[in-house]
Amino acid sequence: MSNEDITPVRRQYLEEKKKHPDAILFFRLGDFYETFDEDAEITARELDIVLTSRPVGGGVRVPLAGIPYHAVENYLARLIQKGYHVAVCEQIGEVPAKGLVERKVVRVVTPGTVTEPGLLPGDANNYLAAVILDSSGSSFGTVASVSYTDVTTGEFAVVELPLEALRAELTRLHPAEILHSDNQVLPDGIAGHLTALPAWKFEPGKCNEVLLTQFKSSTLDGFGLKANSLSVRAAGAIVQYLKETQPDALNLLNSLRSYSLNEFMTLDASTRRNLELNETLRGERKGSLLGALDATVTPMGKRMIHQWVSQPLLNVERIQKRQNGVAYFVQNGMARAELRETLKPIADLERLINRVITGQAQPRDLVAMRGTLGAVSAIVEVLQENGKWKAEQLPKPDLLGGQLSLLQNALDDDPPATLQNTGVIRPGYSQELDSVMDASKHAREWIANLESVEREKTGIKTLKVGYNKVFGYYIEISRGAADKAPEHYIRKQTLVNAERFITPEMKEYETLVLNAEERIKEIETRLFKELCAELAKAASQILATARAIATLDALSALGEVASLNGYTQPEVHEGGGLEIREGRHPVVEQSLKSERYISNDVIFEAGELVRVITGPNMSGKSTYLRQTALIVLMAQMGSFVPAASAKIGLVDRIFTRIGAQDEIHAGQSTFMVEMVEAANILHHATPRSLLILDEIGRGTSTYDGLSIAWGIIEYIHNHPGLRAKTLFATHYHELTQLAELLPGVRNYNVAVSESEGKVVFLHKIIPGGADRSYGIHVAQLAGLPAPVIARANEIMIELEKSAARGVRIDPNVAQQVALFPETNPLLDELKEVDVNALSPIEALNKLFEWQRKFAKRDKEQKH
Ligand SMILES: Nc1ncnc2c1ncn2[C@@H]1O[C@H](COP(=O)(O)OP(=O)(O)OP(=O)(O)O)[C@@H](O)[C@H]1O
Ligand SMILES: [Mg+2]
Repeated sequence: MSNEDITPVRRQYLEEKKKHPDAILFFRLGDFYETFDEDAEITARELDIVLTSRPVGGGVRVPLAGIPYHAVENYLARLIQKGYHVAVCEQIGEVPAKGLVERKVVRVVTPGTVTEPGLLPGDANNYLAAVILDSSGSSFGTVASVSYTDVTTGEFAVVELPLEALRAELTRLHPAEILHSDNQVLPDGIAGHLTALPAWKFEPGKCNEVLLTQFKSSTLDGFGLKANSLSVRAAGAIVQYLKETQPDALNLLNSLRSYSLNEFMTLDASTRRNLELNETLRGERKGSLLGALDATVTPMGKRMIHQWVSQPLLNVERIQKRQNGVAYFVQNGMARAELRETLKPIADLERLINRVITGQAQPRDLVAMRGTLGAVSAIVEVLQENGKWKAEQLPKPDLLGGQLSLLQNALDDDPPATLQNTGVIRPGYSQELDSVMDASKHAREWIANLESVEREKTGIKTLKVGYNKVFGYYIEISRGAADKAPEHYIRKQTLVNAERFITPEMKEYETLVLNAEERIKEIETRLFKELCAELAKAASQILATARAIATLDALSALGEVASLNGYTQPEVHEGGGLEIREGRHPVVEQSLKSERYISNDVIFEAGELVRVITGPNMSGKSTYLRQTALIVLMAQMGSFVPAASAKIGLVDRIFTRIGAQDEIHAGQSTFMVEMVEAANILHHATPRSLLILDEIGRGTSTYDGLSIAWGIIEYIHNHPGLRAKTLFATHYHELTQLAELLPGVRNYNVAVSESEGKVVFLHKIIPGGADRSYGIHVAQLAGLPAPVIARANEIMIELEKSAARGVRIDPNVAQQVALFPETNPLLDELKEVDVNALSPIEALNKLFEWQRKFAKRDKEQKH
């Protein structure tokens, strides 16, 4: 088909489509968004709508699928959820009498740039991220940068990090869409919707320029960014992408925060999952730590507490600042209750201002904003006394009085939901609007009165005023009385029984009435846009207020949870200790109904490094491990903790390896995954880390598993760069021997009461090693058939006879490992002795003690 044969509208379509080859083009034609060609086939298939066809000139027809414009949000949502990008092409300006109306793509909707409320998770951020890797060659210490933004809230941040931390950071952010350069391959295991951009979009010079323009600034120093750095490239790519997809959203991005991973506790992806921070292993919010702590009442507060749980802090001052906020609400129950009540009507201010800025706001959005701004004064009221702010530790929202009164004056009390209908603007706000309204009202009244007025004047009883589409308003007089019609009546139509007339004056009023509706709509739309523009000017103040409210919501929620569950304020310090008295598991505790939760201490004595915890199945080992990790994490997010008291030396990373889950992903077996994670821990843990190792080595044969577990504990204990606090739960009772060989290892077990054949697990962690697992007992409780249980007991007795209390490790072998020249425990002790501070008798005692230790080992070796 030659180009001349193509219809003009088809040509226009092809032009736009050429610019967006990777997106489905929604092409506005009157009341429909039409899709064509392959797009139509995809749309029809994915949305289950009818596929038809349309002539495009030269006798050719192409596939077509259309969506009514008023239902577009729903269809858009479904396509985005399926991973498509949609370019929305609108009609621009008036439809001309002749020729084509102009059409332009106004935005491209992608998973990371959606702003439709129905498409957004209310309680979490919808992040768009960009990732760039340093491809300068060396693989050693390779770095990467991640930038992310939430276009609905204006948050925009960037970080540089080592490649191995990339996955963890992306797991934390859980972006809806990840941009990357099409000449770079991202490492394995990065989940999410990936969008490849041409490499030049990440080009340093281009990105510098884009960011400078965006921030209207002449240098990026103020943002903590070095020119041409990886950070600049990642952030620059985001800005360029938004320029193409959602240009209005750029108005909200007025600052870029560059942060460092050193600000936050490092939690790798599997640790986040294992500790069930934001969701349970089954993917539910209920049952997660977030589920237990999130008592917020506003959507903004929900997002904030989500961020806090995901990013525990590493700075004592910042932690204390949050703690003080929580403490205020724990101590002031009344203020807390009142505040939470006043927060209830608060709408999602962050997202509302975004809709205002991007020109998507409808009257109902401004109604929500008016209600919310109106409620801010009540919030402030609760927290101040005689005009004085009560608590300096709490952020104070700005009242935004100017914006509030603007909304109150301009917006009608009960406007229609959208601008399709009139009645948006309050009478009295605009003279222009009022006079059009008055004129229209007057004209309508005039016409309404016309019948009685003319009957009176003419004395014709049968005179009627009517309306039809062809003539508009007319005066009808029955045939018999028609000759009495006054002179100025103009005859328009003769019917069988009547004559119809008009008058010039009547036609004038008619025009007034008919045009007024259009005029009013026009004026209201214009005033509404002006109102939005005025509010948009105050966007950063409104956002600051939104964040202050979110913070108050999150702090008071933590105060609420702390009060209801009897949490205490932990003491977080720079030292190295860990001391939790009567700690509880925040989630398990809430889920127990009839039973009481048994609290447990975790008090690492000086020099204690590894706790080996043995005990029956189902007795509470894993719960104890997790609760310790969760309490540390809660303390560092600024929350109170479920314990009688707690002193927590800052923990830089929590690592967990929780055994025997079936994660058959990326072609790795369960055991392989377990070992990869263990390797990761041993390479990255520091003396400040907390290691939660639950049954490492369970995924293989007993001897393999035991040997690996043994080796790992020795390595943690002896390696000078590691020596991290470790909780190690195991069913390998042989590991309790380590306590005799390594000074930093302690044995603990879970108390069991056994009387008259009845076994009760007391869930109490006590010093010492356990000698039985009660696995068969648990199997019986679980309902395994009686013959299986009986047979298992027989086999067990046989096995125990032959193995005679399990494997005994030859201390000869054991000691070799301990004899790393720099880490021999005896040498360590020797180094630490302050000879000057010892009395002669104490020195003698020390020597004696060492000799005895050596002698003990010698004897064991000769055995
Ligand atoms: N301190 C506690 N107080 C009350 N109930 C508890 C406590 N600790 C654990 N439980 C209960 O016991 C159940 C089993 O606990 P957990 O999974 O920690 O046992 P385990 O010792 O790790 O068992 P296994 O060896 O089979 O892995 C928990 O689901 C919980 O209901
Ligand atoms: Mg367990």
